[in-house]
Amino acid sequence: MRGYHVAVVGATGAVGTRMLKMVAESKLPIASVLALASKRSEGKKVPYRDGTLTVHETTDDSFKGIDIALFSAGGSVSKRFAPAAVKAGAIVVDNTSAFRMEPEIPLVVPEVNPEALRQHSGIIANPNCSTIQMVTALEPIRKAFGLKQVVVSTYQAVSGAGQSAVNELLDETRAALDDKPLDPQILPTAGDKKHYPIAFNALPQIDVFAEEDYTYEEWKMINETKKIMEDTQIKVAATCVRIPVFSGHSESIYIETKDHASVEEVRQWISEAPGAVLQDDPSQQVYPQALTSVDKTETFVGRIRKDLDVENGLHLWVVSDNLLKGAAWNSVQIAESLHQQGLVHV
Ligand SMILES: NC(=O)c1ccc[n+]([C@@H]2O[C@H](COP(=O)([O-])OP(=O)(O)OC[C@H]3O[C@@H](n4cnc5c(N)ncnc54)[C@H](OP(=O)(O)O)[C@@H]3O)[C@@H](O)[C@H]2O)c1
Repeated sequence: MRGYHVAVVGATGAVGTRMLKMVAESKLPIASVLALASKRSEGKKVPYRDGTLTVHETTDDSFKGIDIALFSAGGSVSKRFAPAAVKAGAIVVDNTSAFRMEPEIPLVVPEVNPEALRQHSGIIANPNCSTIQMVTALEPIRKAFGLKQVVVSTYQAVSGAGQSAVNELLDETRAALDDKPLDPQILPTAGDKKHYPIAFNALPQIDVFAEEDYTYEEWKMINETKKIMEDTQIKVAATCVRIPVFSGHSESIYIETKDHASVEEVRQWISEAPGAVLQDDPSQQVYPQALTSVDKTETFVGRIRKDLDVENGLHLWVVSDNLLKGAAWNSVQIAESLHQQGLVHV
């Protein structure tokens, strides 16, 4: 077959640059790659394979001849340009929260619900980064034992808030070590009234506050988990925290299964699950870490323990590179799955 013409919208960003890398490493047959960003980046170069691509401004006309458009430039850009891309004949994989909860739009983690892609009508949503790694780790347990409840606390890296948040952590860390004043402008979230230092700190706010005093990030984990697992009965609660780590989100997860599951059985299921890697040997101090997850596409699972009071309760520690499995890799995996299922052109 001929290769696909692929566009990456947001190609200069934290996620977009990784999308270009993942596209280059993917199994997709590629005919060409178009790097798109804002007018500010017109003419800039971004790395692709051994060379570079010239960045172009995103316009309604950018998508002529494009088969697959990977969007990662913020929700407003997706809302503005995704319909134009679909109209031009492209299939859109959108990494923002713009379309995730629209009932007719598939929200897909290929290890969990690839069959949902069959109902697409042009746009597919890539879930939130912290949700992707959680459902990748929990799906084998859900399949084997059923899942009643999930309580998650996250320890999220600054790259999840974009390149500007990465720069803010660097600047604040240097300033703090030099005993200079800190000047937070981005975190906890660029769109809110107050900003607090992230260097040497932990901020229990990701995105703005919403209903019931949960943040939007927490609501995303709650709602997206139910949609991806196609189960509105699972009880989900989340507390999302930003920590001074550049990349790699970590999660402490408590679950209650429907049927009894021993630690050994859970370890076995995780070790055989697609996209998951078991790193669980307390006697050798083996467990997943943010630093060792960076640049890897898998989700790492360890610290699996039974709850000491609740019959079917278990605790896990789950880590993944938020820019790869949490964003760029999951999007490219979706494109690969569309290709494998013959769904790129419908
Ligand atoms: N970081 C993560 O872990 C993660 C995970 C999942 C989802 N996401 C989502 O992915 C999106 C991008 O995140 P990021 O972390 O890569 O942000 P980022 O580093 O701030 O990059 C933003 C990108 O969007 C482009 N852009 C901004 N305004 C634009 C416009 N009007 N038209 C076209 N392009 C425009 C920027 O281009 P210029 O350089 O020209 O400004 C840049 O390429 C966000 O919606 C975010 O919520 C991020």
